[in-house]
Amino acid sequence: MTIAHLTDLHLDDFLARQCEVDTPANLKRLMGEIGKHDIDLLVVTGDLGEERLFGELKNLLAAAGVPWHIIPGNHDRLKDLARGGLIDPDCIKGGEYYYSEEIRGLPFYFMDSRSEILGTAQLQWLRGKMASADEREILLFIHHPVLDCGTAMDQRMALKGREELSALLRESGRNVHLFCGHYHFNDIKEKGKIRQYVTPSNIMQIRGDEGNISIDTFDFGFRLIHIGENVQTEVIMLTPESGQNSP
Ligand SMILES: [Fe+2]
Repeated sequence: MTIAHLTDLHLDDFLARQCEVDTPANLKRLMGEIGKHDIDLLVVTGDLGEERLFGELKNLLAAAGVPWHIIPGNHDRLKDLARGGLIDPDCIKGGEYYYSEEIRGLPFYFMDSRSEILGTAQLQWLRGKMASADEREILLFIHHPVLDCGTAMDQRMALKGREELSALLRESGRNVHLFCGHYHFNDIKEKGKIRQYVTPSNIMQIRGDEGNISIDTFDFGFRLIHIGENVQTEVIMLTPESGQNSP
């Protein structure tokens, strides 16, 4: 199966205005690119943008003709997402949105790091799922990275308590393929049996070396995840039509 992973859409929100990026136009171009691939599923891991564009977002996702899943990012509000029909209100528990689903025989976990820290109930749920199921591989989608990428974002924008989540996943003994965004760059990290993929954003990419956070390029992209004997991914980047690619 092939999954298209999109993240950090920032549709016409404060960041898009600040960076002067036409993020709805970027998303249309990404969806056009995704349309060239034979995908089975779409997953969007949060920071969607302005609620008034949720209808348009829903139409774009529906036009891909495959099932889609959305989880929230730190700039999203669950009630807006629910009102826009982007998430299933039945999966909101104690103010957090998380669930698991078997898709084509594979266990998918969708988690909520919106408040930048995972609630006790959500961690308990994950612990319980890990204790009761016996799958070898899991696919986990969450807005925030869990493993350290060694950047300024890890110092200033990291998920609080990520060590606890990382330990829980490692102790599960499973191969965890963890897909996230939030940091606005392309990165793959591995620790034990956790392989973490940070997917680039729909707005611009960030560099966070030498303790500074700054715009790297105005490229935007998504990740294709191919699942067969093993999991392989590729990132596809597009450049802005204006041709201006660095700040
Ligand atoms: Fe974020």
